[in-house]
Amino acid sequence: MTMIQQLPSRRPQPPSDERLRIDCPVLLTERLVLRAPHVEDIDAITLLANNPAIATMVSRMPHPYTREDAAEFVRKTATRGNGNSVYAMAEADTGTFVGCCALHEGDRPNGLEIGYWVGQPYWGGGYATEAVHALVDMAFKSTEIDHIDGACRVTNAGSRRVLQKSGFQFQGTDMIHVMALNASVAAERFRLDRKTWASLLSWHASPARR
Ligand SMILES: CC(C)(COP(=O)(O)OP(=O)(O)OC[C@H]1O[C@@H](n2cnc3c(N)ncnc32)[C@H](O)[C@@H]1OP(=O)(O)O)[C@@H](O)C(=O)NCCC(=O)NCCS
Repeated sequence: MTMIQQLPSRRPQPPSDERLRIDCPVLLTERLVLRAPHVEDIDAITLLANNPAIATMVSRMPHPYTREDAAEFVRKTATRGNGNSVYAMAEADTGTFVGCCALHEGDRPNGLEIGYWVGQPYWGGGYATEAVHALVDMAFKSTEIDHIDGACRVTNAGSRRVLQKSGFQFQGTDMIHVMALNASVAAERFRLDRKTWASLLSWHASPARR
């Protein structure tokens, strides 16, 4: 019998569950291109992410946020060191970087976790909702996941609204750790399961709504 020795791979590791794997296709929405963050984004990422109004609302963003943090973020994303699929949001007509969104393997089986931030000058324009809809559709269409989880601080009315507008259902409250605060804070957890997503899709496609 031939013994096959498995050498440790030097390549980026895929998510542990292949059924959750996403190959990060470029996604086009009405106004956005969702694509991998690249080196040309570093200045814009630094400028927009170095904002306590963003850092204190997400779990893993350092504050202050330096150019080195942005460079490390872009480098790690290219090697998938940041998780499953991390996207830059850029305006389709200008190419301007406006924020980031991502799907990560969470700690619950058969699901992914969604995260996003939009640079403050672009708040209120519907970009987060547009990006979340595109990520959700792509994830349910290209993987076998049962659900996508999202969470926001109880004080984050904007993010709660984004999740609600995307069909996520309230699950309960919890604590989440915020790196920029080095503290745990109260959060609301939301979930969109595959059945709900499928019924929302068919409802939007129904002739009565056209
Ligand atoms: C939360 C965030 C992503 C929203 O981005 P955005 O592009 O402005 O979101 P959208 O425009 O798609 O939707 C925002 C919705 O929240 C509503 N909203 C915003 N602030 C609100 C507030 N203080 N109270 C109530 N509703 C609010 C908006 O009116 C809008 O809803 P509407 O379309 O029904 O009017 C952005 O503010 C952000 O990046 N914040 C900091 C980081 C963060 O919170 N990330 C999410 C972590 S869970």
